[in-house]
Amino acid sequence: MKTTHRLLTGDARTLLEVPDASVQLVVTSPPYPMVAMWDDAFRSMSGAAAEALDASDGGAAFEAMHAELDRAWAACHRVLVPGGILCINIGDATRTVAGTFQLFPNHARVLAAASRLGFVVLPDILWHKPTNSPTKFMGSGMLPSGAYVTYEHEYVLILRKGERRAFRGGAAALRRRSAFFWEERNTWFSDVWRDLRGTRQRLDAATRKRSGAYPLGLPYRLILMHSLQGETVLDPFAGTGTTSAAALAAGRSSIGVERDPTLEPHRRAALEAAVREGHVRAEARRTRHAAFVRERTEQGRPPSHHNPGLGVAVVTRQERELVLTCPESLAFDADGVGHARHRALTPDA
Ligand SMILES: C[S@@+](CC[C@H](N)C(=O)[O-])C[C@H]1O[C@@H](n2cnc3c(N)ncnc32)[C@H](O)[C@@H]1O
Repeated sequence: MKTTHRLLTGDARTLLEVPDASVQLVVTSPPYPMVAMWDDAFRSMSGAAAEALDASDGGAAFEAMHAELDRAWAACHRVLVPGGILCINIGDATRTVAGTFQLFPNHARVLAAASRLGFVVLPDILWHKPTNSPTKFMGSGMLPSGAYVTYEHEYVLILRKGERRAFRGGAAALRRRSAFFWEERNTWFSDVWRDLRGTRQRLDAATRKRSGAYPLGLPYRLILMHSLQGETVLDPFAGTGTTSAAALAAGRSSIGVERDPTLEPHRRAALEAAVREGHVRAEARRTRHAAFVRERTEQGRPPSHHNPGLGVAVVTRQERELVLTCPESLAFDADGVGHARHRALTPDA
C-alpha cells in the first residue's frame, strides 16, 4: 500500500488547495480563544479580536476569535466527504479580564457553531491531561467562597458531516481490514481518556512551548477509530505536523495546512520519524493483543474466532480480516510531497 503526505502553507479559514469532498477525516487542534499564548494569532486574523482585547472586553474578544474559527469549521465541512468525521481537540480557557476571573467555554461555542453549519454532534471525549496541573490555590485558597476549580482536561469534539457513510463492495472489505481489536474498542470508545501521555520529547523546549503540540497517540487513535486504511486525513491547523505523522504511522494519507512557514522543518522531521514510530506502534498493538488473548485463555474464556492473516485468536467475527500495517519507507518528491510505502504485519514478521 502507498500513501501521500502534503505539507501545505496556507489558511485554515479557506483551505484553498483542498478540493471539495476530498478528505474522509479531519483531526485538529486550533489556537484556543482566550488562552493568552494564542492572542497574537487571533490579533493577526481579526481586527475585531485585537480591538476587543485592547479594550479588555472578554466577551467580544471571545466571539471575534470564534468567528475566525467558524470559518475554518465551514471549510472543513466543504472538504469532508459526506459522512466524514471532524475531530477537534480544544480546551476551555480561564482568564482574568478587567479584574474578573471567568471561564470562556470554547468547547460549547464550537459545538454550537458546528451544529449551525450542519454537522451532526456526536458524543465527545474528555482528555485528562495531567501535565496541565498548575497551582491548585487559585482564587481565595482555603477560604470559602471564592476558590476555583482547576482544569486538568481538554475535549475531543466529534462531529459528522451528515449521515453515516455507507460502505459497499471494495470499501466494505477495506473497512474489515481496518477493524480494531475488541479490547481496543473498549478503551478507545470510552468517554474519558486517561492513558495518553503529554507531548513526546521530539521538539526542543522553545518549539514545544510555542507550538501547543499534542502527543502523537491522540491523533493516531482518532485516525484508527474514524478512517479506513489508505484514506486521507486533514489537519487545517497542522503546527509541528503531529497529525500527518500519526496518519503516516497508521497507514493513511495526509494533508497538513499551517500558516507559519517556519514550522515546515519540524513537520518534515515528524513525518520522517513516523516511519519507525508506525512500526513500533503496530508491533505494540500486536503484543498487547497477544497478552489480552493469554489472559482471557488463562481465565477460561479463550476468544473463539481466528484471524489467519495475523495468526491470532480474536473475540468477534468483525476482527477476522483485521490487518495491522506499518510504514516501510518515506521519500519526498521535488514538490515536497512525501510518498510512503506500507506493509502488512504477518505472523512471522
Ligand atoms: C494548537 S496549534 C496546533 C498544534 C498541532 N496539533 C501539533 O501537534 O503541533 C495551532 C496551530 O495553528 C496555526 N494557525 C493559527 N491560525 C491559523 C490559520 N488561520 N490557518 C492555519 N494555521 C493556523 C498556528 O500557527 C499553530 O501552529
